[in-house]
Amino acid sequence: MSTVYLNGAYIPKEEAKISVEDRGWMLADGVYEVTCYYEGVPFYQDRHLERLRRGLEWMRIPFDARVMEDVSRELIARNALEKAVTSLIYIQITRGVAPRTHHFPKGPVTPTVFAFAKSWDRPSPEAWAKGFSAATVPDRRWGRVDIKTICLLPNVLGLQAAIDAGADDAVLVKDGVAMEGSHQNFWGVIDGTAVTHPLTQGILPGITRAVVLEVARENGIPVQERPIQVEELLTADELFFTGTTNEVRPCVRLDGRPVGDGKPGPVTRALSQAFLKRVEKVKREAGARRT
Ligand code: PDD
Repeated sequence: MSTVYLNGAYIPKEEAKISVEDRGWMLADGVYEVTCYYEGVPFYQDRHLERLRRGLEWMRIPFDARVMEDVSRELIARNALEKAVTSLIYIQITRGVAPRTHHFPKGPVTPTVFAFAKSWDRPSPEAWAKGFSAATVPDRRWGRVDIKTICLLPNVLGLQAAIDAGADDAVLVKDGVAMEGSHQNFWGVIDGTAVTHPLTQGILPGITRAVVLEVARENGIPVQERPIQVEELLTADELFFTGTTNEVRPCVRLDGRPVGDGKPGPVTRALSQAFLKRVEKVKREAGARRT
């Protein structure tokens, strides 16, 4: 049975109850965060918590996100996930419970704080080597998707449209530009350079994206942060996604057409290997700190 965290208590998932007047449920008035744990070691949770802190501040939800570091560690332990190859912590914080109004509640309200831990599985090496497909869909999201709010309806509908078209993933397109995936950042390899959208209010500043930029630079792989026009996708050598729980994920078919030679390309493979090496380094360093 899984143990979750709700408003200060660790309880069985079945016992966790949220009010029907919670503003997250009524109005999507909240933020969330997903962090990967590798054999019980958090992968840059400080960066995830900093993104959460920024989101809370921007939404004016008074809550100190730093406490979630201890909560996350405790959830990993209570759910016996220290040895899991890959697991994750999901955190969601809403403005709290109050009679429904579009404006903020008048008096002070205690935010609702919820978190759970679960394991997830990487695709098998065979599935990864075969690669994944994606379909382009319109990006119908609002103007501040750099904030990780729980308003995910356009992401949900976008990914479902891609799945209905027979693809695994969605590439969200706005004004002729490939912005990002429904829950991943998006990259193209164009003339030997790994290109991804620059950090603007139009994409989520992915932690995996930042780590992949770092390892690319360390390994002398050219990178560029600039908008990718949809026309460029037709001739890109490689396409891939990055994200927590997706790591580096090759996209070998787009809108039914093969990308490059239809297999994960050399840059995607090199970046995936470099990313996994960084994971090992983070694990080693955490191990060294414990001893
Ligand atoms: N999604 N872009 C979007 C729209 C996302 O929702 C995510 C993460 C990313 C990748 O960010 P990161 O590398 O920090 O995970 C990019 C999470 C995992 C989710 O919604 O489950």
